[in-house]
Amino acid sequence: MNILVVGSGAREHTLAWKLSQSKHADKLYAVPGNPGMANVAECISGVSIEDNAAVVKLAQEKAIDLVVVGPEVPLTNGMVDALKEVGIKAFGPEKLGAEIEGSKAFSKGLMKKYNIPTAKYEVFTEAEAAKEYIKAEGAPIVIKADGLAAGKGVIVAMTMDEALGAIDEIMGDGAFGSAGARVVVEEFMAGEEVSVLCFTDGKTIIPMVPSQDHKRVNDNDEGPNTGGMGAYAPAPVGTPELLAEVQKTILDPTIKAMEQEGRLYKGCLYAGLMVTDKGAKVVEFNCRFGDPETQVVLPLLESDLVEVMLACIDGKLAETEVKWSTGAAVCIVMAAGGYPKSYRKGDEITGIDEAEKAGNTVFHAGTKAQDGKILTNGGRVLGVVAKADGIKEAVDKAYAGVDMIKFADAHFRHDIAHWALERLNK
Ligand code: AMP
Ligand code: GLY
Repeated sequence: MNILVVGSGAREHTLAWKLSQSKHADKLYAVPGNPGMANVAECISGVSIEDNAAVVKLAQEKAIDLVVVGPEVPLTNGMVDALKEVGIKAFGPEKLGAEIEGSKAFSKGLMKKYNIPTAKYEVFTEAEAAKEYIKAEGAPIVIKADGLAAGKGVIVAMTMDEALGAIDEIMGDGAFGSAGARVVVEEFMAGEEVSVLCFTDGKTIIPMVPSQDHKRVNDNDEGPNTGGMGAYAPAPVGTPELLAEVQKTILDPTIKAMEQEGRLYKGCLYAGLMVTDKGAKVVEFNCRFGDPETQVVLPLLESDLVEVMLACIDGKLAETEVKWSTGAAVCIVMAAGGYPKSYRKGDEITGIDEAEKAGNTVFHAGTKAQDGKILTNGGRVLGVVAKADGIKEAVDKAYAGVDMIKFADAHFRHDIAHWALERLNK
């Protein structure tokens, strides 16, 4: 089969890497791809992934049999619908399904209507009304811009001042553009977070191994939120008992609800959960694979990813076995100095080959190739992934790889997987 991966981050690199191992993969393409993906796929530049017609044309020209759409923006723009219209199979939800991530007001409404456990909330279009509600509820409280804000539209306010300031920032100053025209104000949930990415064909939903992201930039979960500084899987908080509960109270009801709403959902459903003392509750749904969770989940998949994806598209997931390795995987993200604030680009990166020879896999996120060198080209530059029998071994192996990779002002967290290691030490 000819396969096209849409996107250019480390998540898409991981998808392309895993797809390239499939016995069904003949020729792999990526649009636009990145220098790491170029090792497994032909990267195509000059086609915007926000232009459905251009991607459809490309897929037709290259006689693509399967398109895998990585990021949320093309999914919420209806890329899967556009491909389906011309008879090209695409993995990912259609536009109506992708709204589960594209609009927090929609996903919160869905959960309320179908009794899916999540934080209590209200939606506001007026700053004054939002502030009144916040004053009545008290802090800590959570404020979210309604639309897509690249993971940055959420403020967990620990004090009343912070909460009221967040309303001004989102609704008053337009910091999040049209994404901030509506805000969701919700109850603060205390607990440990876990990411449960799932394969679904719209009827059957199968969770992947549970994983954890590390959203804060600094060790000990301090500093501002980022796109994710590292991840590991399996996350011990996701016990078989917890996953069984999640299947019954969250996954099955959500996929059924989407069907009943006329939004049959196929692809990857990402359930971001908080494990509270009253059970697991939904923090957010995403309409795509998680980043950096994908970098640790897919290396543990033993089944053929093309077969699983086709089963999702063709409604045959119930008859498909999805097998996982018993090991663990860890991803350490190396970021450019200054990230998530402003940072420099264009610094040379060395040591990637060395780290790979030592048994790691390096997934590129923000890099570019120039004159035979690999240069930094983004905030999150790359992810060093190690697989081993257990979390501790995988952590050590990944950090050994990180030590071999150098670029000016590189920074990374030193405590990835600390929640798991703390549990193991108990
Ligand atoms: P989201 O973009 O909705 O995933 O939110 C980003 C992060 O904010 C989450 O990963 C949580 O760490 C935190 N968060 C969001 N909603 C809540 C909540 N209701 N209670 C506590 N933390 C939250
Ligand atoms: N790791 C968080 C996300 O993909 O949204």
